[in-house]
Amino acid sequence: MPKPYSQVAPSIDVHLQPDWARIALERDVRRALTVKPRVLPPKWFYDARGSALFHQITQLKEYYPTETERRILAQQAATIVDLSGAETLIELGSGTSDKTRVLLDAFTQRNQLQRFVPFDVSEAPLRQAMDTLGLQYPHLSLRGIVGDFTQHLGLLPTGGRRLIAFLGGTIGNFYPEERQIFLENVARTLQPGDGLLLGTDLIKDPVRLVAAYDDPGGVTAEFNLNALHVINRTLGANFDVTAWEHVALWDAEHEWMDLRVQSKRLQSVHVHALDLTVSFETGDWIQTEISTKFRQERVQQELTSAGFDSVTSWTDPAGDFNLSLALR
Ligand code: AVJ
Repeated sequence: MPKPYSQVAPSIDVHLQPDWARIALERDVRRALTVKPRVLPPKWFYDARGSALFHQITQLKEYYPTETERRILAQQAATIVDLSGAETLIELGSGTSDKTRVLLDAFTQRNQLQRFVPFDVSEAPLRQAMDTLGLQYPHLSLRGIVGDFTQHLGLLPTGGRRLIAFLGGTIGNFYPEERQIFLENVARTLQPGDGLLLGTDLIKDPVRLVAAYDDPGGVTAEFNLNALHVINRTLGANFDVTAWEHVALWDAEHEWMDLRVQSKRLQSVHVHALDLTVSFETGDWIQTEISTKFRQERVQQELTSAGFDSVTSWTDPAGDFNLSLALR
């Protein structure tokens, strides 16, 4: 009996300079600590610990996006497979590729998919996910990519019809101008016939939104404050993480959740790798993430103006989350 090995051995491409993450973190932290308003990009949450904490968040009862999106995916998977006609599925920000299994199963049933390309900023969780995927989908060629999807879309494999999945509402992390550029880049990277499957969280009662980003068990607080641990470890900083608190606000003007770490006292922090010392007063904050919430029409309109031709969108019965399939 043949062993269930993949046709092609699973591989991970870290096409980037080995120290790109460190160099990018140095630049981002220098800017976050010296330019006001202080803003640190959320990609730095996701070291091994941060990735595990995010996975825990997805299982909280207050955090509705993951399970809601999974239900929409399960309901529409066969339609998505048919409409996309994809031979290659690429997932940006794949993490554990947990929900993606719903899609992989639907593709497998129709024997249509040849290749799965998980793309993530964090190598350890990517490797872990690929080990499991290799066993579960032995017929698929697995090609992981470690990179930053705002810079490295050029690394995506070409050939055959491709579907890029960008799930979970991660697109909400971009500021509006960045989001437009990102969608245009994705549209430009894709060929006619290729598609983008995009998950977006929808506007709802702010009480529910705040609960989803400030759970009573404090998992989201741990996750948010983990950014400071990452800076301490990677750049030799001495943030006293206990002197900072997690803050999650609904910004009604911009229609995004605003996540910050806020200083609980007067303190100064030294960052060895940057040869930088910064002082913070009580209440000073660093914004660590925005998570934009959308109206379905706005998603459709942004996809169309980015260069996609046909857009099909689905929501759950309560209208909490949106999934759109946009074809080039
Ligand atoms: C992974 C970006 C989709 O914005 O909801 C969860 C990250 N931050 N709780 C989100 C997150 C705090 C999450 N995304």
